Amino acid sequence: MKSKKFDIKDISLADKGKKRIEWANNDMPVLGLVKERFEKEKPLAGLKMSACLHVTAETANLVRTLKAGGADILLCASNPLSTQDDVSAALVKHYKIPVHAIKGEDNDTYYTHLESAIRHNPVITMDDGADLVSVIHSKYPRMINQIIASMEETTTGVIRLRAMERDGALKFPVIAVNDAETKHLFDNRYGTGQSTIDGIIRATDILLAGKNVVTAGYGWCGKGFAMRARGMGANVIVTEINPVKAIEAAMDGFRVMPMMQAASEGDLFCTLTGDMHVIRKEHIRVMKDGAILCNSGHFDIEIDLKGLKEMSVKVNKNVRDFVDEYTLKNGKKIYILGEGRLVNLAAAEGHPASVMDMSFATQALTTEYAVKKRGKLGAMVYNVPKEIDEWVASLKLDAMGIEIDRLTGAQKKYLKSWDMGT
Ligand SMILES: NC(=O)c1ccc[n+]([C@@H]2O[C@H](COP(=O)([O-])OP(=O)(O)OC[C@H]3O[C@@H](n4cnc5c(N)ncnc54)[C@H](O)[C@@H]3O)[C@@H](O)[C@H]2O)c1
Repeated sequence: MKSKKFDIKDISLADKGKKRIEWANNDMPVLGLVKERFEKEKPLAGLKMSACLHVTAETANLVRTLKAGGADILLCASNPLSTQDDVSAALVKHYKIPVHAIKGEDNDTYYTHLESAIRHNPVITMDDGADLVSVIHSKYPRMINQIIASMEETTTGVIRLRAMERDGALKFPVIAVNDAETKHLFDNRYGTGQSTIDGIIRATDILLAGKNVVTAGYGWCGKGFAMRARGMGANVIVTEINPVKAIEAAMDGFRVMPMMQAASEGDLFCTLTGDMHVIRKEHIRVMKDGAILCNSGHFDIEIDLKGLKEMSVKVNKNVRDFVDEYTLKNGKKIYILGEGRLVNLAAAEGHPASVMDMSFATQALTTEYAVKKRGKLGAMVYNVPKEIDEWVASLKLDAMGIEIDRLTGAQKKYLKSWDMGT
């Protein structure tokens, strides 16, 4: 089957999308510097790239940067609900970048779009959740030898890729961009924290002050969400399975308890774990009438939606945009936001540009690094080089107008010594 050049919702949305891309670009100064250099040096000249990412205004600025560096890039969605259709249209019309993504696409279309990205015949791939890497390994093994490297944007993707590496199933190099400090410390924490609250409010318009908000998972995303929900006046309860993270949450001042106990107390639940069935039938059974459930972890399996359907006598889709109402056999109503998919991208616009500036500058520079190392990296999951992290952080500080101290000669010497004590 011959694939289409692009597959988007509506090209007439292009002008609106361009304005949003430009607005985001204003808050992405570090990526802007990378783009300027890429324009001159063309480090990715002639290389075919496929990126499977959330199609947002910030991602548009990343793919424009990679194109400025000489890459022949195609973009497809990494989630059926996260695409911003105006951005796709602008990329196609104004920036001549093919996009295969439509907000609300069904599973078949989602995979058709992934296939189009593969038919682009990339030598570099970029994932948010490891879908391209996974499809290439399982369905297109003949492409494995041509892949220079793949970049991975999110925690769940890195977990999948490390599992492949452990099983000896990974056949080309992957770089865990998520694990760079300039990525997860800021994007996962402050980005997810703010945009998840934004998605919940846009979908429901509820007042958070005084609500019992249950945060499942106290990793980078969970911490950010719990912090911001508390800032809005919510009483935040944390559930965890990791004892260290649970102590951290308790010492940060949150109530920590098992989901079974939190289930009957919560007004709003948000899962941010990267795990499956964190909220399931036994929890839903004891929830309050009107409880609102959402997820900001990568896949839509953190809430057991199949179980919820089995318990329900009626489902009213879209009682508001991105809100589905489930009526249980016991008469209670439970609300699911964004079909259990990432609520910050389904019901809002994902992370603000300022935080994606760092994540995507790191992505672009890591891509350049992978190309420079062509043929020298093995079939493993690599970390982003420290210098990239430090460079991105320094430039972000500059852009924020913040200066910091530098080590004196004596301090450098002291910090390297082992013989100076009391
Ligand atoms: N919404 C977004 O835009 C966005 C952004 C970045 C990452 N993510 C995704 O969010 C998820 C979390 O990412 P992270 O960086 O915070 O990961 P993380 O590893 O830092 O944190 C996950 C936490 O969840 C806990 N956990 C696992 N299973 C649990 C369970 N059953 N009950 C309670 N807690 C449990 C773990 O112990 C861990 O502390 C991943 O799927 C990641 O891909 C989403």
